[in-house]
Amino acid sequence: MLSGLKTLMTGVAMAATVMVAAQAQAQGAAVKTEVTIDASKATNVIPPEIYGHFAEHLGRMIYEGVWVGEDSPIPNTRGIRNDVTKALKDLGVPVIRWPGGCFADRYNWKDGIGPRDQRPVTINTIWGGVEESNHFGTHEFFDFADQIGAKTYIAANVGSGSPREMSQWLEYLTAVDNSQYAKLRRENGREKPWVVDYIGIGNETWGCGGDMTPEHSADLFKQFATFADNYNPDQKTPETRMIKVMSGANVADYNWTEVSMKNRNHNVHALSLHYYTSAGLNWPPSRPSMGFDEAGWAVILKEALHMEELVQKHSAIMDKYDPEKKVALYVDEWGTWYKTDDETRPGFLYQQNTLRDALVAALHFNIFHKYTDRVKMANLAQTVNVLQAVILTDNEKMILTPTYHAFDLYKPFRGATHIPVSYEAPKYTHGDITLPALDISAAKGADGTIWLALVNLDPNRPLEVNTKALGFTAKSANGRVLTADKIDAHNTFENGSVVAPKPYEARGGNSGLVLKLAPKSVTVVQLK
Ligand code: AHR
Repeated sequence: MLSGLKTLMTGVAMAATVMVAAQAQAQGAAVKTEVTIDASKATNVIPPEIYGHFAEHLGRMIYEGVWVGEDSPIPNTRGIRNDVTKALKDLGVPVIRWPGGCFADRYNWKDGIGPRDQRPVTINTIWGGVEESNHFGTHEFFDFADQIGAKTYIAANVGSGSPREMSQWLEYLTAVDNSQYAKLRRENGREKPWVVDYIGIGNETWGCGGDMTPEHSADLFKQFATFADNYNPDQKTPETRMIKVMSGANVADYNWTEVSMKNRNHNVHALSLHYYTSAGLNWPPSRPSMGFDEAGWAVILKEALHMEELVQKHSAIMDKYDPEKKVALYVDEWGTWYKTDDETRPGFLYQQNTLRDALVAALHFNIFHKYTDRVKMANLAQTVNVLQAVILTDNEKMILTPTYHAFDLYKPFRGATHIPVSYEAPKYTHGDITLPALDISAAKGADGTIWLALVNLDPNRPLEVNTKALGFTAKSANGRVLTADKIDAHNTFENGSVVAPKPYEARGGNSGLVLKLAPKSVTVVQLK
């Protein structure tokens, strides 16, 4: 099907034009579109950290989801469960944020070091009021990050902690000398310092992190950041420095970004943004994670697409104060937040994860790819058993969710160079909601391979995307597709492969390469 592609490739520069013509057809019939890609316009490298994760002491995220303890019958390595570690390692988690979230501003790192049987039991007042054994602390987190091969992003306690407490934690983590906290770390079994790649100084200071004004939050950031020293001499250059992240806006609080940028100092390396699909615009979370109808499908995809407006508007404010784009925007909490599925433990934020969530994830990736001049990191909330998790566990059982598969499908985009595509997408309408039925992202890998990610948001109609290429000779498209029979299809502990990627192949014909996209699907292909 790629035989209509014309070769215009010269050296490393490739050009392909994307033209899209949409023709709506009767329900169920394929809607035809035309797409051309301009590979010569490849722009920014997509930072792998866009595919970051977040692990909070919340519900069964840490305890059971990651930590089972050394004596558990669940196979583990130093208390960290092997099945979860393997799945996350396979996924290639680039960075993981810990210990919160709201929990971080209630956490005292000193409770989580030393012999486990001597650690104090505290109460997780923010999430369910349950006992926190502190068995998963600093050593366990850095071991976990090491086992999955992720960079480390810690969140310091600004809301109820002190600059001294934070500074002592950093000394414990990073000092190489004989200082008291470096010695204490060695006594607790860790000779070498760890690498702290990122430190969040405050989390949601507008809410659970202290209920502050943006002015007070900005001042407090500057105070804490002054004492956020990295003691490791190897982490002092601009390339290796520990990146300091200022607590940023909630959803569309543009004044927060304005004040934060206006009052920032040299220590602000990145500013965060939090937006949860559904809960971000409708608090408290009331929509179900499964068992929804088409209206529930359409509204969630609509609200997921809202991320683009938020990124654009917050970035525009940042551009005003930082035209050189020195300060990054980290969307370090995103994902769907529904009414919990576990009414007995509402504070645990457990929810199922359906095909709809996979599309939400794919739409977020496509958005982030477009704005990597500013957006350098994003962290899904959260990794296991909480909100839009990539993994669910039930004691010894573990399943991968549709969102896991979406992350997996998009792996080739990490470190690839984004290629802007322009097209007129056909429309998908349900009730009073009209959305683009097609969402595409393209990128060029380091080896020159062109990757396309195509999302068909329409749950009823297939799409036929005719690629008229003008820059390279592509004879076929190979990759994988994620779809299912039902809009709320999900994996269960009885059947973990209801929603799983399947191979996808298309071949070029005389009239070009036609990519047939199933309704409600995510397809990622390599053009050959
Ligand atoms: O991810 C759950 C919570 O959402 C986090 O703890 C908090 O930062 C946000 O409000």
